Amino acid sequence: MRVLVTGATGFIGGHVVAALLAAGHEPVPCARDKTFGKRRLPGLEWLKIDFNTDTSVEDWLTQVQGVDAVVNCAGILQGSLGQSMAHVHRTGPIALFEACARAGVRRVVQISAIGADPNGATAFSRSKAEADEFLTGLDLDWIVLRPSLVYGAGSYGGTSLLRGLAALPVAIPLPDGGRQRFQPIHIDDLTRSILRLIEPDAPARLILEPVGSQVRSVREIVLGLRAWLGIAPAPVLALPMGVLRAFAKLGDLAGLFTGQGTLRSTALKQMELDNTAPVEPFAAAVGFTPRSFDEGLARMPSQVQDRWHARLYFLRPLILLSWVPAFFALGGIVAALTRGTDDFMVPVGIISGVFLFVLALVAAWALRSQR
Ligand SMILES: NC(=O)c1ccc[n+]([C@@H]2O[C@H](COP(=O)([O-])OP(=O)(O)OC[C@H]3O[C@@H](n4cnc5c(N)ncnc54)[C@H](OP(=O)(O)O)[C@@H]3O)[C@@H](O)[C@H]2O)c1
Repeated sequence: MRVLVTGATGFIGGHVVAALLAAGHEPVPCARDKTFGKRRLPGLEWLKIDFNTDTSVEDWLTQVQGVDAVVNCAGILQGSLGQSMAHVHRTGPIALFEACARAGVRRVVQISAIGADPNGATAFSRSKAEADEFLTGLDLDWIVLRPSLVYGAGSYGGTSLLRGLAALPVAIPLPDGGRQRFQPIHIDDLTRSILRLIEPDAPARLILEPVGSQVRSVREIVLGLRAWLGIAPAPVLALPMGVLRAFAKLGDLAGLFTGQGTLRSTALKQMELDNTAPVEPFAAAVGFTPRSFDEGLARMPSQVQDRWHARLYFLRPLILLSWVPAFFALGGIVAALTRGTDDFMVPVGIISGVFLFVLALVAAWALRSQR
């Protein structure tokens, strides 16, 4: 089957493309940055798309020509100056779905999110629900998948944050001690279900909640990931939600300009929902029961790259900005050589140099594992 996949450079979309290839299908991956995709999978015909701008049916009619099914895996957690949540989750996908209806592409799988709700507390939840509602009103063989937390080989966004927390030294601070509940589903179970659901004879016109067969609190997930990474146990510290909400506001501000960052208000609000559901309806529709979180980790040994990434997670912003203290340290040296050691830039340079030294030590600690 020829299957158009949006969000093909992302975590879920990338795995969907890989699973389609493994099953002998012909994926048509779509990305905003086609060059990046083409470098990774040069054998495929990549399409350049952007839900911010491709908001009319006409934008999609040629893209869906000759396609047997569409899997929409594109999404963002929160809007930014360059990314409109309304377009990425609602206007763009609605135009794509309408184009499918006009072009006769009957199978459409929409990756929504657990808790999607037209009256939800976040723009994320509302915009997802609005696109789902539009799709379910079309005369197509649609499937809406609303997964709980998805994990697997590699990590993006929220799962990277969980891995970063799991690898912290000394103690692990978690919102409210990590009492929030998820039902993590392994990416291989999600892609297996998508492969089943794109088949012409598969069940259709269903809203399903892909979940794993084990409810896990954030605390259990993070401690499970820590053990999976092979890091010695550490105590959990309960962080008051109020403090985190204040940090998230800063994250929102930074994310507005950079379009990046996971500690943002939407993530916190989504986390506070009960991200669990009965596994039986999903299992019945796809013909298998997804593995538990414990099984998922046990069948996926962690690698040295996982340890490096997890330990460097919170250092990344400091390393990215390390050119600032480096600039002041150099300024201090130049000032000492040209204007003498009494110049005000000299202590600034020394403090910057000490900061860089400590950062280098911590980075060396983070990268010490060779296995
Ligand atoms: N991962 C989970 O645990 C989880 C759980 C429930 C639901 N979901 C939903 O599943 C979907 C995929 O999640 P993910 O974890 O794979 O996220 P991800 O790794 O961040 O990938 C998101 C994808 O969406 C693409 N995208 C972003 N803005 C776009 C735009 N304007 N036009 C077209 N494509 C755009 C990204 O492409 P670029 O490379 O161009 O940015 C990327 O390929 C999201 O809608 C998410 O809400 C995920």
